[in-house]
Amino acid sequence: MKYRTWIKKKNSADQGMVVTSLRWLGVSLLVFGFSATAGAGPREQAKRIHDRLAGVPPSELVLQQMEADVDPFQAGTPLDAAFRAMDNANFYNVTLKNFVAPWTNEAGDVFVPLNDYIATVVGMIRDDVPFNTLLSADIIYVGANNLGLPPYSNTNNNHYVALEDGSFDMMTGLEQRLQSNVTGLPPAATAGVITTRAAAESFFEAGTNRAMFRFTMKNHLCNDMEQVHDTNLVPDRIRKDVSRSPGGDSRLFLNSCIGCHTGMDPLAGAYAYYDFDTTAGSIQYTAGVVQPKYSNNEENFPGGYQTTDDSWINYWREGQNRFLGWDPTGPGSGNGAKTMGQELGNSVAFAACQVKKVFKAVCLRQPEDATDRGQIDQMVASFQAGGSYSMKQTFAEAAVYCMGQ
Ligand code: HEC
Repeated sequence: MKYRTWIKKKNSADQGMVVTSLRWLGVSLLVFGFSATAGAGPREQAKRIHDRLAGVPPSELVLQQMEADVDPFQAGTPLDAAFRAMDNANFYNVTLKNFVAPWTNEAGDVFVPLNDYIATVVGMIRDDVPFNTLLSADIIYVGANNLGLPPYSNTNNNHYVALEDGSFDMMTGLEQRLQSNVTGLPPAATAGVITTRAAAESFFEAGTNRAMFRFTMKNHLCNDMEQVHDTNLVPDRIRKDVSRSPGGDSRLFLNSCIGCHTGMDPLAGAYAYYDFDTTAGSIQYTAGVVQPKYSNNEENFPGGYQTTDDSWINYWREGQNRFLGWDPTGPGSGNGAKTMGQELGNSVAFAACQVKKVFKAVCLRQPEDATDRGQIDQMVASFQAGGSYSMKQTFAEAAVYCMGQ
């Protein structure tokens, strides 16, 4: 609106000058030249939207269409321009791949081969699958049958490596499937990207399955463990492997260990039936049987919590972590990774985290001031509106906000 009034004023001033006297032509050009470098016109704005989303310059035809979308005097809106820019294989193969890849390994490395976690996120974004189901749905994306790829395998990543090496594009080459059909996990044991092979290999391997929880919090609620540290809740679900007097000092337990383990251990109970079998190279699910890793180092504190099933409970609905915005209609407790994934995916923190990640990927910076934070709030509201959870809409809104003025 502001831009529209400004450009209208500027145009009538320019016209007036040209009509009144040619003497003013020089001045008029000077004015025009100045405003063209100080501010971005529709063409520059369109170009920036395209660069940020597709990562490559637009063709002249697409640029013209996008310029018209952005131009307040022509049909269309800047959001239309953003959707046009996303209609480009590069948005999926490069921008989104690089956006997601760091979530799939502990090091946060962007330079990893395509895998089922990345492909599933890219496919869900492409098809506008409500993104709050990311950690719970019975869903996976695979390469289309007609691409001649080796079939999906539970024991290796060859299918996705071939998809990437063959330069097949994810805009057209990915197909949505039921994860339970592809991997053979019971439908109730699927939990979106959590139960993909890539996530299992990175986060269920060895350890105590707390890593899966920690990295899900870090990557999808944008809170690492230090940020959710709360020492004021009941520690009754902390497992036996956590010493209650580390180094002979119980104060350390009370001031430090409790802060993370009180909330984390009862939530990570949801993963009790999962492991990653490194010899077979595949995820392992033992319905009804708690994995041995849940009994590691029981001697550290024999009076600690014994995991007997895959039940979970969210103690962080109380205390400082209630500000993560848990869904008031959610259960707050349950059994298994799927319902726990719904608990996380329906929180405000999950929605805000996706929006902030998109903002950073598209604007190439963190939100900085009150105006940016207001924009983030609006985008979170838009993301959650009507349960749409459309990441594409979020990408479009970020690109328009950062298209320059
Ligand atoms: C900032 C949060 C945080 C604090 C504080 C914390 N832990 Fe942990 N702890 C974790 C996370 C996350 C894991 C899972 C690490 C992984 O597997 O990557 C973990 C894992 C463990 C494990 C399992 C180790 C294994 O072999 O996988 C033990 C035992 C443990 N913690 C004990 C303690 C004790 C004792 C303290 C206090 C001195 C403590 N923790 C403090 C977050 C924390």
